[in-house]
Amino acid sequence: MVILSSLKINMNNHTDVEKSLNSRTLRVAVIGIGRIGLPTALSFAKSGLSTVGVDINEKLIQKINSGNFPLMDEPGYEEIFHDVIKTGKFSATTNIEEAVPNSDLILLSLPTPMDENNIPDYSALRTVASKLSDILSPNSLVIVESTIEPGFIEDEMISIITKSGRLSATENFFIGVCPENANPGEILHDFTNLPRLVGGISPDITKTIKSIYNFVFSVELIEMPNCKTANAVKLTTNVFRDINIAFVSELSLMFEKLGIDTNKVLDAAKKKYNFQVHYPGAGVGGPCLPINSYQLLNTAKRIGSPLTIIESGRKINERMPQHVIELTTEAFEESGTPLVGSEILILGISYKPDVKDIQLTPAEQIIKKLKDLGTNVHIYDPYFSSTEKFGIKILESISPELLEKMNAVIIVTAHKEFKNLNISNFCKMRTPILIDTRGIIDPTDAHNSKLIFRGLGRG
Ligand SMILES: NC(=O)c1ccc[n+]([C@@H]2O[C@H](COP(=O)([O-])OP(=O)(O)OC[C@H]3O[C@@H](n4cnc5c(N)ncnc54)[C@H](O)[C@@H]3O)[C@@H](O)[C@H]2O)c1
Repeated sequence: MVILSSLKINMNNHTDVEKSLNSRTLRVAVIGIGRIGLPTALSFAKSGLSTVGVDINEKLIQKINSGNFPLMDEPGYEEIFHDVIKTGKFSATTNIEEAVPNSDLILLSLPTPMDENNIPDYSALRTVASKLSDILSPNSLVIVESTIEPGFIEDEMISIITKSGRLSATENFFIGVCPENANPGEILHDFTNLPRLVGGISPDITKTIKSIYNFVFSVELIEMPNCKTANAVKLTTNVFRDINIAFVSELSLMFEKLGIDTNKVLDAAKKKYNFQVHYPGAGVGGPCLPINSYQLLNTAKRIGSPLTIIESGRKINERMPQHVIELTTEAFEESGTPLVGSEILILGISYKPDVKDIQLTPAEQIIKKLKDLGTNVHIYDPYFSSTEKFGIKILESISPELLEKMNAVIIVTAHKEFKNLNISNFCKMRTPILIDTRGIIDPTDAHNSKLIFRGLGRG
């Protein structure tokens, strides 16, 4: 049953919105309370606005409602979580039918992944948009924080939300975007420091969204002419990084052959005022960069305007796990130890340092390839200890006894725990092969310690 509230604020009336912020009467629903949505909802609740988090994941809702904070690797939010639950400003539910009609502002932080053919998947947004068409109360404002292709709001979302005929865009339903750009593991810092892009269906709505985000986050808000431009900026900044990592990764393959240490090149190059440094590595994973490149490639295909650099960059980044295998094979050849039947320890499976996240991690490809080559793979990652990932039970710790049984160690993620590892620990391995794919081991130290060492891009 749809429960329509009588306290409805007209989100197109800037003065009313300002008043509702100051009196803390604006009611907020955040749909999708995962990695980004939950911290977002908690920030809105912390600012004093009644906020309900909606998600289809029943276990997550149960966990939250039992007072267990699910994002322990997000510093600062656990305390906020307990505070806003205590003050009653935040609650979580699976009941979208109740939450949405009783809210003035609906934020969408839904996943926008891609399928096995690298085609962007907007099904969560489409499903929720379709639901909103039936249950959104008139004069509400919907803000899409999810990462979407430029034009998705204008070409799809609006027509889905208005299909029931109850709502008409810019008349009694309003929409805008404020693409999320926080880094997992640093969300509180980023939310309260990084500028945000704002694009609305009309200049008035853009102004209203700016007021709301200024009230909650007090950061610089960059006004965009429309939704599609805001989403274009979001994708441009991330794809810039994907391409630049591909650039230095490809260079590093050549520098290896030339006996040039890519890290030395980059450390000197970055002294030039207009060089923005990126580092090569085992591959690019995570919930953003690879998908964002494919989102722009999808747009390119749709409108027939090729983006060849992005396409090449993706190919290079996706080949890097294979290069890690080549370095490993070479090191085993040098040692005279057969690769088949060897014991290999992977250090780190997260897609980037110091976070508990393995989405699209290059570690998965590396582990699969090593298994296919007949090796026995072991994993240590402090963020996943004692869990099972990729069919392997993650070790609880790494002891000298364990290392003595290993033929090789491959550093895949530069977690801070690995940066302090004493290199002499590796000398006691059954075969002292050390592969560093993240540039954290000094090659001279490794050679002086008589390790059979390969550093990705280290020459
Ligand atoms: N994680 C990041 O680093 C990051 C950074 C910037 C932007 N983003 C973008 O933010 C968006 C959300 O990403 P995330 O990492 O928080 O994803 P996530 O998978 O951690 O969270 C999404 C949540 O939405 C829920 N959900 C899925 N379908 C739903 C539905 N129909 N109704 C209600 N809930 C539903 C899921 O159960 C999940 O809890 C994506 O577009 C992503 O690209 C993510």
